[in-house]
Amino acid sequence: IGYTGTRRDEALSEVLLNGLSSLEYRGYDSAGVAIANATVSVYKSEGELSELEETLPATTLEGTAGIGHTRWSTHGPPSDTNAHPHTSCNGRVAVVHNGIVENDQELRDALEADGHEFESETDTEVIPHLIETALEQGDEPEAAFRRAISQLEGSYAVSAVVSGHDAVLATRNQSPLVLGVGDDGYFLASDVPAFLEYTDDVVYLEDGQFVSITPSGVEISDEQGDLVDMPVETVDWDIEDAGKSGYDHYMLKEINEQPHALRECLRGRPRELEGSIEIDELEGLERPAHVHFVACGTSYHAALYGARLFREQGIRTNTFLASEYDVDSIPVDETTLVVGVTQSGETADTLRALRAANRIGAETLSVTNVVGCSAARETDYVMYIRAGPEIGVAATKTFASQQVALAMLSRALTGASSSGFIEALRALPDQVQSILDTSHAAAVADEYVDADAYFFIGRGYNAPVALEGALKMKEITYKHAEGFPAGELKHGPLALVTDRTPVFAMLPGDSTAEKMLGNVREVESRGAPIVAVTDVPAQLGSHADHVLEIPDTHELFAPILSNIQLQLVSYWVANRLERSIDKPRNLAKSVTVE
Ligand code: G6P
Repeated sequence: IGYTGTRRDEALSEVLLNGLSSLEYRGYDSAGVAIANATVSVYKSEGELSELEETLPATTLEGTAGIGHTRWSTHGPPSDTNAHPHTSCNGRVAVVHNGIVENDQELRDALEADGHEFESETDTEVIPHLIETALEQGDEPEAAFRRAISQLEGSYAVSAVVSGHDAVLATRNQSPLVLGVGDDGYFLASDVPAFLEYTDDVVYLEDGQFVSITPSGVEISDEQGDLVDMPVETVDWDIEDAGKSGYDHYMLKEINEQPHALRECLRGRPRELEGSIEIDELEGLERPAHVHFVACGTSYHAALYGARLFREQGIRTNTFLASEYDVDSIPVDETTLVVGVTQSGETADTLRALRAANRIGAETLSVTNVVGCSAARETDYVMYIRAGPEIGVAATKTFASQQVALAMLSRALTGASSSGFIEALRALPDQVQSILDTSHAAAVADEYVDADAYFFIGRGYNAPVALEGALKMKEITYKHAEGFPAGELKHGPLALVTDRTPVFAMLPGDSTAEKMLGNVREVESRGAPIVAVTDVPAQLGSHADHVLEIPDTHELFAPILSNIQLQLVSYWVANRLERSIDKPRNLAKSVTVE
C-alpha cells in the first residue's frame, strides 16, 4: 500500500495500517511501514500486523507520503530485518516490493563492490540501493526510480518513497498494482481492498507503467516516459467481498490465480538457451539412486504425479502417504532422496516422515509453498513452489504449482529435457487462463448437482488427477465421490455405477486414449452419464454426454490442465449446494496432529 494526500502523520499511518489489514491474507509473516518527510522513518516487525502496531510510536509519526507491506517470504525467512520496507545505506529511500528480482545476486555483488552494505537476505534490498546510486549521480527521484527499475529482471510491483519528496513512486511488471483515486488523496496497492474504505475509484495499471502520486495529483507514464491516460473504473464490492477481490469465495479466487501462480513457479527456472532446468535452491543435489515421496491429501496426489515423472527418467521411485511411512519396514538409506511434498510445510504426518528419514541419514528435500516453514528448516534442501498464500482449505493453486514444480524437479535432477518439454511448460499459464475463460464446468455442475455420487477415472499420468478430482468433490460438496485408475473400474467400483453417478473421464489424445475409451464404454453401457475432459473432442464420437475441453499440450501436462476443469466442477456443485466452500466442515488447512 502507498498513500499521499491530505491525511498526514498519524492519519497517514492509519491509512497504511488499515490498508495492510485488508491485505494481510496476501502475506502475514511480517509487516512494515515507511513514512517520508525530510527524513524517512521505517517501522517493521516479524509476525502479524498487530506486532507492527505495537512497535509504532504514537506521537512521532510525521510525514506526507507513506508505504507499507505485509510479507509472504520468497527470499530469506520471516524476520524483522527481512521485513519490508527496505532502505538504502543513507536511509533516504525506502522500498516495498512484491514478486521476485531474479538478478538480485548479480546486482548485489556489483553494489557491494561499490561499497554498499546490505542488511537483509531479501532480493528486494537491491532496489533502494540502486535508487540511491542514481540519486547520488544527480537524478531526480522519478528518474532515479526509473533507472533502478530498468536494471531489474523478474516480476515486481514496487513502490518507493524518497526523503524530502512528497511523492509515492511505483511500477509493475507481472505483479498486480492498482491506483485508488480518492477525494483526499491517492492510493497505490497490490489489491483494491487495501483502500476500498476510502475510495471505490480505481485505475488498473498495466505492466511497464510508472506512476507518481503526490497530494496534488497523479501522473502515469509508459516505459519511455510518455504520459498516458488511463480509465478510472468504479468497483462495486462491499468490504466483505473485498479480500476475495470480488469473487464469492477464496477458492474461486485461488482457482483463477493459477496462471499467475504457475508463472511465478516457472520464473527463472527453465533456462532460455541451454534448454535445461535449474533450480538455484538445489545446487549440489545430484541425481538420486532412489526417491521416496512422502505427502498427505492433495499433496500426495501431486507426489503420485511427480513419482511417475521420476520413474520415466529411470529413477526407482515410490510414493507413500506420510502417515504410512515407516522407516523400519521400508528400505531407505543414505542413497535415498526423501521428498516431502507439503504446501504448508507444517503437516505433522509429513514432518514425522521427514524427521525419520533424516535420522536414517537419507537426503531430504521439501517441496513447499511457505518460506521458512518447519519442513523447509528441517530438510537438507528445499524447493519453493511460489504459489502465494492459499486461504481456501481445499488446495487448488498449490496443487497445480506442485505439479509444475515436480515436473521441473524431475528434469533438473536428471539433466534430461525431452523435446518440447520446456516450451510446453512455458505455455501452461496461458493455457490455464484459456480454460478459465471458456470453461463450461458450471453448466456441467448444474446438470449433475443432484447426482448420487461422482466417479473420476484416468490412466497413467492422469490417474492421480482422478484421485484429486474426487477428493476435491467430496471435500467441498460433502457428496460421495471416488477416483481410481481407470483399469480398476471393472474390479469393484463398477458395481456402484448407475445412471445417477456421472463419471468424469480424463481422455487426452495420448497413448492411454484407446484403453480409456474402452473403460468409458464399460460405464456407458451401465447407463452412467460421461463427462469427458479432453484435448481431442472430435475423437470421442458420441461417447460423452458433456465435454470439458483442454488445450493441446505435451502429454505429461494434460493432467495439470484437466484438473483445472475438475476444480471448477467441484466448486460449482458446492456453490449450488450452498456449502461452506472455503471452510468445509471438519477439515483444516494445516493438520498439525498425527
Ligand atoms: C489437509 C488439507 C489438505 C491438504 C493436506 C496436506 O488435510 O485439508 O487440503 O492437502 O492437509 O497439506 P500440506 O500442507 O502438507 O500440503
